[in-house]
Amino acid sequence: MSGPTPDKIMQITTGGWATSILGSAARHGIFDALEGSPASAEDVAKKTVISVRGAQALLDGLAGLGLLTLSEGRYGNTPEASQFLVKGKPSYLGGMAQVFLEDFSTWQHMPDAVKTGLPVASNTTDIADNPFWHMLVPAIAALSFPVAQMAAEKLGIAKAGAVSWLDVGGGSGVWSAVWLGVNKQATGFQLDWEGVNKIGRGYVANFGVADRFKTIDGDFHSTDFGAAKYDFAVYAHIAHQETPADNLANFRKFRKAIKPGGTLVVNDFVLADDRTGHPFAMMFASQMLVATKGGFTYRQADYRKWLGEAGFPSVEIVATPTPSTLIFAR
Ligand SMILES: C[S@@+](CC[C@H](N)C(=O)[O-])C[C@H]1O[C@@H](n2cnc3c(N)ncnc32)[C@H](O)[C@@H]1O
Repeated sequence: MSGPTPDKIMQITTGGWATSILGSAARHGIFDALEGSPASAEDVAKKTVISVRGAQALLDGLAGLGLLTLSEGRYGNTPEASQFLVKGKPSYLGGMAQVFLEDFSTWQHMPDAVKTGLPVASNTTDIADNPFWHMLVPAIAALSFPVAQMAAEKLGIAKAGAVSWLDVGGGSGVWSAVWLGVNKQATGFQLDWEGVNKIGRGYVANFGVADRFKTIDGDFHSTDFGAAKYDFAVYAHIAHQETPADNLANFRKFRKAIKPGGTLVVNDFVLADDRTGHPFAMMFASQMLVATKGGFTYRQADYRKWLGEAGFPSVEIVATPTPSTLIFAR
């Protein structure tokens, strides 16, 4: 038989099942239990204190999704699961599946958001010190980790001496954790909500560099970033939640805050000018639609325009091995 098959549509239709299976497995520590020691459903149930019926359903689903191996009735982690789904590793992404699962009720109302163009989330991103961030920022740190490493290499942070930077909306503090780790003379400043900065200080402390991590509590819309104070600045996964006017205003404040010759690093889900790109980035406009009043997935041309207007004549756009893009503005 030739012609289209329903496979893709079925896979997309059951995407919520996959999120639920992964989020539940992360919540119950299935991958932690299997790391280094393949086990039967009965053993997994005992080890993670869940029902045998529940364990078997999860293990079937995870093996079907290609995250577990199955040999003679024993399940084991694939290399992917071992790297990204075992708790405690800096690359751990299981928390993201749990957060997405928590957010299902918002997505049920997406048809209304599509109709009106207005968010349907009760906890939109403009709410001060939104508890959603407390849950999200540790969960997404692993996504930024390799990107922060890549930017550090590109900017020569390790050998830059006693430099400092301002990370606006730094969240977990992952950028500072990585950069302070490679440069023992540097100081990292992070501007974020008070509750989030507290989480950031805890995360950065795990890397043994908390003494050089300084936090500034406040709303980045109304907080002054200072003048000619920092060698670098970071704006990671923030532009997408802002309106074009707010991004331009923030880029102007960055221009003033960065010393002459310094660099602003923007990290975000960025589309090509024809609105194509990584599938995650292409779906991300929907996340912004349901959760923000004016955020979106912006194009390279948008960033070039705002950065140019804000006084950054040189803009370099670099792809990363993740769904996000790096932009270096000078
Ligand atoms: C998507 S997270 C990005 C975290 C981090 N930059 C990263 O890339 O992993 C957005 C961050 O921006 C912070 N944020 C959002 N709106 C803010 C505002 N108006 N003022 C200060 N921080 C804000 C949130 O608390 C959260 O830490």
